[in-house]
Amino acid sequence: GSTLQAAAAESGRYYGTAIAANKLSDSTYTTIANREFNMITAENEMKMDATEPSQNQFSYSSGDRIVSWARSNGKRVRGHALAWHSQQPGWMQNMSGTALRNAMLNHVTQVATHYKGQIYAWDVVNEAYADGSSGARRDSNLQRTGNDWIEAAFRAARAADPAAKLCYNDYNTDNWSHAKTQGVYTMVRDFKARGVPIDCVGFQAHFNSGNPVPSNYDVTLRNFAALGVDVQITELDIEGSGSSQAQQYAGVHQACLSVARCTGVTVWGVRDTDSWRASGTPLLFDGSGNKKAAYTSTLNALNAG
Ligand code: G3I
Repeated sequence: GSTLQAAAAESGRYYGTAIAANKLSDSTYTTIANREFNMITAENEMKMDATEPSQNQFSYSSGDRIVSWARSNGKRVRGHALAWHSQQPGWMQNMSGTALRNAMLNHVTQVATHYKGQIYAWDVVNEAYADGSSGARRDSNLQRTGNDWIEAAFRAARAADPAAKLCYNDYNTDNWSHAKTQGVYTMVRDFKARGVPIDCVGFQAHFNSGNPVPSNYDVTLRNFAALGVDVQITELDIEGSGSSQAQQYAGVHQACLSVARCTGVTVWGVRDTDSWRASGTPLLFDGSGNKKAAYTSTLNALNAG
């Protein structure tokens, strides 16, 4: 294939990017996005603060613009994210107990119902595990409503949109030997054993020199897939430049391609200037929209798979 989406499709995989609604009027941006990607994630527009700015008053216009752009261009959509300790609307941030649990479940139900039938996979719960060596849940207002909050969110999402795949999504879960990876693995194994509805695990894959692409990435993806879930690279970016960055991009794609149930890769933005890492150059296109060495190594890796 001569584009990322065409090359990924040769092995039955998708290739995605994060899209920001306020950039859909930038034709350099939309030209690249339309040509290279066939799976779209809203970078911010479907988050809790964006979709429920006041309690029980839902705001879907920006998310809808992204879904409409994606669907009119024949692309699928990953939903991001229904429940998260971060990016909560102000009214939710200081809630606790039953009121918060019910507000969270109502949010999951309402948003998943609004987008019912239009979402390939939802990040139902985002970033619920702690960094460091504990392998435990992260403390948050949602966690303090009870350890079962995650499974409750998954059950509510399944009831609202039975056709969407339901994913758990997190970062720093790429290295098999890290405690955080093991914590998430144990949760997914438990969910599968008890019939909690979970279909996929998303690996955000935000890499930099302090958090490099692990050499055992394929092991991590294969072990999760063996639990009976799809695995997906959901927010890929790698700090750096030139051949070093290109090599690391190739490695991530080789790891995904070596695992049958690694169903697709999403990069977290189109051009370097679109990245949340404002001062970095972590993506596949430079600020002018030119293909970088990392683009070529990624395309070659996809074509070799
Ligand atoms: O749109 C407002 C603008 O009106 C305002 O003037 C400006 C001032 O701060 O803020 C703008 O909103 C910012 C928004 O990005 C759009 O640029 C928010 O402050 C900023 O917090 C927000 O950052 C996003 C971040 O998630 C929030 O958590 C990034 O764009 C987005 O790339 C990033 O994505 C996350 C994933 O959702 C989860 N995994 C990690 C990943 C990277 O942090």
